[in-house]
Amino acid sequence: MQILFLGDIVGAPGREMVIQYLPLLKRKYQPTFVIANGENAAHGRGITEKIARELFEAGVQAITLGNHTWDNRDIFEFIDREQRLIRPANFPQETPGTGLTYIKSSQGELAVINLQGRSFLPPLDCPFRTADLLIDEAKKRTRLIFVDFHAEATSEKQAMAWYLDGRVSAVVGTHTHVQTGDERILPGGTGYITDVGMCGPMNGILGMEREAVIKKFLTQLPVRFEVAGGVTQINAVLFTLDSTTGQCRRVERIRIDADRPFME
Ligand SMILES: [Fe+2]
Ligand SMILES: [Fe+2]
Repeated sequence: MQILFLGDIVGAPGREMVIQYLPLLKRKYQPTFVIANGENAAHGRGITEKIARELFEAGVQAITLGNHTWDNRDIFEFIDREQRLIRPANFPQETPGTGLTYIKSSQGELAVINLQGRSFLPPLDCPFRTADLLIDEAKKRTRLIFVDFHAEATSEKQAMAWYLDGRVSAVVGTHTHVQTGDERILPGGTGYITDVGMCGPMNGILGMEREAVIKKFLTQLPVRFEVAGGVTQINAVLFTLDSTTGQCRRVERIRIDADRPFME
């Protein structure tokens, strides 16, 4: 069985890219499960119910979030009734939503866990101890467990992957919007990549218009970031799992962009 995971979808360019290419990716790789990070799907800031529905219709089965979870007010209206949408589980206890969901397939059920790092990000509950609790809970239902660890520091992401090695099928890092080339299978059978990257503008800075970002670095003044235009990209990863043990057998990075056109 295979899990296809799409990196942070940024704004309309990212959504359009996913809607256009997900059917082609599904035909090529026949994934059992499709998951995407949607924290930047609404103009770079959060997600709306309409956009979540569009992504589900395009073939995404579960959406994870991150530090931009609350950027769009719409989220409060639907996060508690949309089970396919989760936010980092280590947010304070009173916050709406949850950080664990399940996707069903004919070959079994996949637990999807979302966590957020604390290095260079707000001080949340411990993501490692939260992972322990959620894995114990998920194990009661399934051997197949997927973790999106939304974090800035490569060290924190590697630490999480090694901490969970042998206990989950795969750990992906998200948030930096830059795909890393370190995909591998750890000795305990957990598939891993430090960051999946992003789906959206290719020539922005992390998907946003370059001019504003450069101005910010030059002046340190507040500037308004807008999603960049121009050519777009898809950054994703495909994990092949042994469905009886839940262990990862293969990890493949996927990139589609102006330099790397999609091949059937
Ligand atoms: Fe992001
Ligand atoms: Fe983020």
